[in-house]
Amino acid sequence: MRNLIRQGIEELVPYPPGKPIEELERELGIRSPIKLASNENPIGPSPMAVEAIRQKLGSLNRYPDGSGYYLKEKLSEKFGVPPEQIILGNGSNEIIELIVRTFLSPGDNVIQAFPTFLVYEKIVKGAGGTMTSVPLSGSRPDLDAMLREVTSETKVIFLNNPNNPTGALLKHEEIAAFLKALPGDIVVALDEAYIEFVTEAGAADGIRLLSENPTLIALRTFSKLYGLAGLRIGYGFSSPALIDYMNRVRQPFNANLLAQAAATAALDDIEFVEKTLSIVREGLRYLYKSLDAMGLEYIPTQTNFFLIRIPGGGKPLYERLLKKGVIVRAMDSFGLSDYIRISVGLPDENRRFIEALGRCLGCF
Ligand SMILES: Cc1ncc(COP(=O)(O)O)c(C=O)c1O
Repeated sequence: MRNLIRQGIEELVPYPPGKPIEELERELGIRSPIKLASNENPIGPSPMAVEAIRQKLGSLNRYPDGSGYYLKEKLSEKFGVPPEQIILGNGSNEIIELIVRTFLSPGDNVIQAFPTFLVYEKIVKGAGGTMTSVPLSGSRPDLDAMLREVTSETKVIFLNNPNNPTGALLKHEEIAAFLKALPGDIVVALDEAYIEFVTEAGAADGIRLLSENPTLIALRTFSKLYGLAGLRIGYGFSSPALIDYMNRVRQPFNANLLAQAAATAALDDIEFVEKTLSIVREGLRYLYKSLDAMGLEYIPTQTNFFLIRIPGGGKPLYERLLKKGVIVRAMDSFGLSDYIRISVGLPDENRRFIEALGRCLGCF
């Protein structure tokens, strides 16, 4: 079978998604489990998005607008970037794929900091590229070390800010200096999936970096802040030239009809956005305080998720928490076997997690 597949596929393993709630109910017969594993929005989808979907249901016999006109107009207005510098995707995951398909040839090299979002490597290797993973310095990407890895084969760099899974943030000046030091023919994909959760001052902002960096692509998503992960809609900003190239590669109807309508409405849902941010901030305060009281180490985050160090290993704890109906993320596939990652949930979910954790660790 080996000679059937493209080079690089053999060594890939399927992406390990957070365990779905339904699966836990089915497999272990657990009633109302909670899921804190996939950095989702715990309060639900934006109500304005849901209403927009309702209104569009009768139009499902039609193809979506392949140009995404209204959503791009709305994004353009909100972020001050012209529509010709915006691309839409079936989740920002699809834009990651489009970047690789547009700018990478088999054998080309990509650089990432590691641990980071596992999808970059998967897509690069699936396309026959090679991935250079540069270890984080503490919890942050080591930009100097990444620069040292650049060769004439390097075509794309993935940088996730704040970084999943560590939640660490790079500042504007740091990324600006990094981009300046790079050769001009490398595409830099700056994945800002969690940028709206940042509270620290001076965060890098991909949009502000665009004018001086025509090969930069800033990626964002409606999956997290707007609670639309199940709908699959993301967006990216870049120079008109790079957007044009990616548009040549993308499928004509990649952003579906309901997703476009929902995302356009969600951008106006200020109340929902504020509620989400406040739930996450309060949740983090409660979780940090509880973990401090239990004497557990964690990595403070600039996102809606964070890493907790588990002395006995993350995977055994993950299994024990599952049996108590709490789904978190084991980190073996990120090379962090001493950690679990949790997403901030609703206040009651956070309490259930802390109680279950305490019981599993014998702290209470
Ligand atoms: C760093 C990062 N980028 C992108 C995504 C995917 O976003 P989307 O749902 O828009 O494909 C995620 C989702 O977990 C993520 O953690």
